[in-house]
Amino acid sequence: MKPDLTLPKYLSLGYIAAVTGILVTVAVFIKLGWVVERAHITQNGYRGTAMDQIKRPEVERMLKLANALPDPIDKASPDGDKATAVYSNVQVLKDLSADQFNRVMLSITEWVAPEQGCAYCHNVENLADDSLYTKKVARKMLEMTRHINTDWKPHVAATGVTCYTCHRGNPVPANIWYTNPGPTRAAGFAATNDGLGHPNAINGSTSLQGDPLTPLLDSKAPIRVAATQALPGAYGAPIQTTEQTYSLMIHMSDSLGVNCTFCHNSRSFSNWSESTPQRVTAWHGIQMARELNMTYLDPLKGVFPANRLGVTGDAPKLDCATCHQGVNKPLLGVSMAKDYPELGGVPAP
Ligand code: HEC
Ligand code: HEC
Ligand code: HEC
Ligand code: HEC
Repeated sequence: MKPDLTLPKYLSLGYIAAVTGILVTVAVFIKLGWVVERAHITQNGYRGTAMDQIKRPEVERMLKLANALPDPIDKASPDGDKATAVYSNVQVLKDLSADQFNRVMLSITEWVAPEQGCAYCHNVENLADDSLYTKKVARKMLEMTRHINTDWKPHVAATGVTCYTCHRGNPVPANIWYTNPGPTRAAGFAATNDGLGHPNAINGSTSLQGDPLTPLLDSKAPIRVAATQALPGAYGAPIQTTEQTYSLMIHMSDSLGVNCTFCHNSRSFSNWSESTPQRVTAWHGIQMARELNMTYLDPLKGVFPANRLGVTGDAPKLDCATCHQGVNKPLLGVSMAKDYPELGGVPAP
């Protein structure tokens, strides 16, 4: 009987090649870091309430890069000649020394118009001239920034804001909005659909209103879903209010990069005593955004050129994303304002 000289199956060339191939692929994946990283999960509610925040490490790394801060420029002394003594048309920064004033000019150039330079806001032949709209807007912005840092501490705390919080090196911040009347629609019954059912930038493919911001962040309309009494008395919250509320809530969650349970215990969205402290901060944020839009941005309607206005002729406005840009605390909670007492920030200790 002839001995069987064929090799056992596991020594066949094809088999060895296949196993080597798999091992090499796994090694390459590990070497290049193509392994699934665990999400960071934090509980922010009472145990058992499933109020967790889930953060993906790769997203956190991207946010860290996107929120790197520019170095503050050297401090300026509050002593010496006042800016008003040296310059002829200082209307907002009247309390600053000329040195501090110049420091502000250098900083805002870096934060708002690094490529365009002083000429973005100035007629460089005559710096006192107010003919450019950008200078008039910037003056309002100086007032607004100081107002946020001194009067909105219930929201921005000691962290505060600078122009950079919103602008990040761009003349027009990445996140602004205009009243969105929605696509044109037919008359009759179709005209009453309130813009529903159209995918939009705020709540994606849901069928909610595309523009919850005009009624809820540029006016004082109530943000309500739940009834406050058992039986209807007067005309209660219409269904549109519910839809606007949910649409705004999606905007808020997206802007902060969190889910609903960052602020709510989802077993009872309206109940404040079961909500997190962040919901209270958010409430102040809503009041602040409304006030800033109504008293600072809307009145700039006549100052902006037509190409900066919305389709309904309204001024550009801010929302939660203008400052937050995807994180629960803008710039990951690092205070730039502390280095800028000129902007009403808290002086460094
Ligand atoms: C983002 C807009 C902006 C940029 C960029 C800017 N400025 Fe100004 N500048 C202003 C505003 C607004 C005022 C008025 C401030 C006030 O009324 O308190 C002003 C006022 C001044 C004044 C006072 C003029 C006077 O006589 O009243 C000087 C000087 C000045 N800027 C210099 C500069 C220089 C130099 C640069 C570039 C390094 C610069 N600015 C960049 C907005 C800007
Ligand atoms: C809370 C957010 C926020 C802060 C803080 C802020 N801005 Fe603005 N800024 C806006 C918004 C919103 C607009 C409107 C966007 C547009 O012009 O279309 C704007 C517009 C401007 C414009 C007009 C740009 C253009 O070409 O239309 C200038 C200039 C400007 N800001 C300067 C400043 C300066 C200087 C500071 C700091 C003193 C500052 N901003 C702080 C939100 C902010
Ligand atoms: C950053 C905090 C925050 C996040 C995130 C958030 N909310 Fe809210 N929510 C609030 C605040 C604040 C109010 C109250 C507004 C008011 O009373 O003016 C509110 C109100 C509501 C209401 C109305 C309650 C009532 O009394 O009728 C509902 C419903 C709601 N939120 C659902 C959601 C949903 C769903 C999500 C996720 C998509 C969400 N919220 C995300 C802060 C938040
Ligand atoms: C002018 C810039 C600005 C705008 C606009 C803004 N915020 Fe904030 N927000 C801040 C700053 C700065 C902080 C950090 C405060 C601190 O360090 O405690 C903050 C903190 C918060 C926190 C607390 C986060 C935490 O981890 O404790 C919540 C919640 C919040 N904002 C919600 C909102 C909502 C909702 C809106 C829109 C309705 C909004 N903010 C609009 C600047 C802003």
